[in-house]
Amino acid sequence: MKKEGRIDHESIGHVGEVLTEAQKNKGLLIHSLQSIQKNHNYLPEDELKSLSENLRIPLSEIYSTATFFKQFYFTPRGRNVACVCTGTACHVRGAGEILDALKIEFKIGEGETTEDGSLTLETVGCVGCCGLAPVLTVNEEIVGEVEDEKLEKLVDQIRGDNGGQDEEA
Ligand code: FES
Repeated sequence: MKKEGRIDHESIGHVGEVLTEAQKNKGLLIHSLQSIQKNHNYLPEDELKSLSENLRIPLSEIYSTATFFKQFYFTPRGRNVACVCTGTACHVRGAGEILDALKIEFKIGEGETTEDGSLTLETVGCVGCCGLAPVLTVNEEIVGEVEDEKLEKLVDQIRGDNGGQDEEA
């Protein structure tokens, strides 16, 4: 008899075992991808190749899985990630100007990273706090009611982040 919430292996036979193995591999794969991204801030190709060998999962399958989840990146990201909300409320309250100002200030386009690795600039749909529009997130922290002064402070803060090179000198 099938217990609620559990796979009845007797009734599905070998398929049940295969399914369980596939689920395990998938779980391991995603965990490994998260770990690689945590170390490098993105998924370097050579790391994915060695993951493919170690887990015996085709590289194409690894790419296909990683592409499915928006949390994974295939190019290096900046030490800071600014994400301008371009949802309706923020759009109406000047998100476009904020985005343009950051593009000009850091000489990068949307989805790009500065050469010194200090900033990746992205956009996102509504982040759920329209009352604070215009909003952007910096390293996943919400910055609301963004106006010139706040933006200038933010730019200075990002420019001042040189990845700890001052301390090493
Ligand atoms: S539209 Fe920007 S937070 Fe909702």
